[in-house]
Amino acid sequence: MLVLGIETSCDETGFALYSTADGGRLLAHALHSQVPMHQAYGGVVPELASRDHIRHLVPLLRKVVADSGLSLQCIDAVAYTQGPGLAGALLVGAAFAEALAMALAVPTVPVHHLEGHLLSPLLSATPPVFPFIALLVSGGHSQLMHVAGVGDYVLLGETLDDAAGEAFDKTAKLLGLGYPGGPALAALAADGRADRVRFPRPMLNSGDLDFSFSGLKTAVLTRVREAGTLDELQRADIARAFQDAIVEVLVSKALRAVSGSGLKQLVVAGGVGANRELRRQLDARAAKAKVAVFYPELEFCTDNGAMIALAGALRLQAGASGKVGGAFAVRPRWPLSETSASRRSNHDEI
Ligand code: KG4
Ligand code: ZN
Repeated sequence: MLVLGIETSCDETGFALYSTADGGRLLAHALHSQVPMHQAYGGVVPELASRDHIRHLVPLLRKVVADSGLSLQCIDAVAYTQGPGLAGALLVGAAFAEALAMALAVPTVPVHHLEGHLLSPLLSATPPVFPFIALLVSGGHSQLMHVAGVGDYVLLGETLDDAAGEAFDKTAKLLGLGYPGGPALAALAADGRADRVRFPRPMLNSGDLDFSFSGLKTAVLTRVREAGTLDELQRADIARAFQDAIVEVLVSKALRAVSGSGLKQLVVAGGVGANRELRRQLDARAAKAKVAVFYPELEFCTDNGAMIALAGALRLQAGASGKVGGAFAVRPRWPLSETSASRRSNHDEI
């Protein structure tokens, strides 16, 4: 079975072709990032995002088909991101996917964007095996999940306010860094000195697996205001202290979720999973706890079409029937816990 994946939920247009033959293989993928376009505005401009997706759909589709050496007629299903994300951007991808599927007379598979992130480490050469714990840290979400299989997700904890990526982005803005803030802040933090500045570790000892990151951004704001003018090194110290705080909380809670589950595998997915310091500290502490940590390839940490093609293919393999023609809708706000079989844990479950 050959599945086309289309991602257009935010500021990347992603296409991929995934084949389930021979245990599953990614045949081709292509990505267009809108980051340079939005940079001038300091953040994503939704209407510009929608229009830019439209411009790149056909060229990217042609590219993945050509790169795979196959033809459009070989496609058996079209998976696309149904939500969550920007309504206009989602609609562009959904309308294109539904129209293409109708023309090819194949079913569509509307995919939850976070399910794509969650399953993306399965694209690696050494993938995790179900069940595992997943730390999902993207621009809009910070969640800990118990993943028993495709579509079987239990939410163990999540952020009560800002997502980790959002906290990186907002703090970067406070420090005068560009968009997207995460990588820029991480680069500045690399020059910062240890223990010159210290910020609180929000909810580190809250006894549950939830997070809260908005106070951290306020702590940075207060520090910046108090300091008045900051030289480059002082800004780097603040960036480092912010990153250290967020990383310590993420690592501690993720490993607590793993130890509470009795499992030995942790998957880290979403854009913040690209953060080197997070990876370094997680690897060090997980090794001590004899926990194996799995990350997607760096190019599949942030948004991409490959994870959507994979999630669609796995859904079909797990028995989903796919959607044939008719009306379609996007879901800009869509908790992963509302997808089939997934639910929120009462913390005693695992
Ligand atoms: O998963 P993603 O590409 O998009 C969403 O689904 O939201 O995540 C984007 C987020 C942004 O907030 C970005 O600043 C953050 O991931 N990010 C990082 C790094 N690379 C991307 N945060 C910290 N360190 C990084 N290296
Ligand atoms: Zn994402």
